[in-house]
Amino acid sequence: MAWTAHTIIQNGKAIPFEDAKVHALSVGLAYGAAVFEGIRAYMNPSTKRLSVFRLEEHLARLDQGMKFMRFDSPPSRDALRQGVLDSIRANAPDDDCYIRLQVHIEARGNQSTTGPVGWVCAAIPRERSTKRESGIAACVSSWTRIADNTMPARIKATANYHAGRIATLQARADGYDMPILLTRDGKVSETAAACLFLVRDGVVITPTRDSDILESVTRDTVLALAAEHGLPVQERRADRTELYVSDEVFLCGTGQELAPITSVDRLPVGDGKPGPITMRLQQAYESVVRGTTDAHAAWRTPVA
Ligand SMILES: Cc1ncc(COP(=O)(O)O)c(C=O)c1O
Repeated sequence: MAWTAHTIIQNGKAIPFEDAKVHALSVGLAYGAAVFEGIRAYMNPSTKRLSVFRLEEHLARLDQGMKFMRFDSPPSRDALRQGVLDSIRANAPDDDCYIRLQVHIEARGNQSTTGPVGWVCAAIPRERSTKRESGIAACVSSWTRIADNTMPARIKATANYHAGRIATLQARADGYDMPILLTRDGKVSETAAACLFLVRDGVVITPTRDSDILESVTRDTVLALAAEHGLPVQERRADRTELYVSDEVFLCGTGQELAPITSVDRLPVGDGKPGPITMRLQQAYESVVRGTTDAHAAWRTPVA
């Protein structure tokens, strides 16, 4: 990762990276009134060209978030799409990028303030986790996942990350890499920043959309890839104890990508090594995000 980000897009304008500012009392900061997307652009190893992975799906989810937040005059999808592409082009990266696209209330006000809103888009370098190869030691958190009738779990709101953050800090303090959160009724939900899959007897299983998950773009990608690889897939509620008896467990998300979980609560998953189905799907994911396969060309938006 040789490149650094020097330019950021704020409200449609390219400005020096360090100059992107909001007031300290803005409602976005004071009350967490913000929604965002984490997006990745991957470089094709042959063409050396970048493409943004599933940009339209990320923009669609952000639209849902802005609607849910009742934002006044939210930025248009076209403006945000342009912002994503501009944030990459302005920095001329020579490697993969991670893109944070955030829409927040810029005004000062109170809990019921709905605008004016502002937005920012940053393309930055981001190291890939080495745990993608070695595997993750997870624990089941004593914190439960935010419930749909308390916080909007399926909306990518910045405030939701308070819950994931305290669970992560607890897991780290206890010596684990990351927490797995259960729903309030004790079913498997997701990790603090990624969705979960279990593999049992060759069947690829992921908790349903009503398990208080973020409706993840990567989860959708993995479901499609698994089916294309002839693997039986099931979206269903999953018990906590299934985490201990599964042959494989893995997580997936834009930031975390697709990575094996090799132990849960110090019990090895399967034989404690990254499993074959996980690694096959990881490889398939890598091909589709980078465009080393022609399949799913519509998922890749060229940057140039
Ligand atoms: C809480 C949470 N769940 C799931 C995911 C995965 O979502 P996506 O695949 O859309 O990035 C993320 C983000 O990566 C997340 O923050």
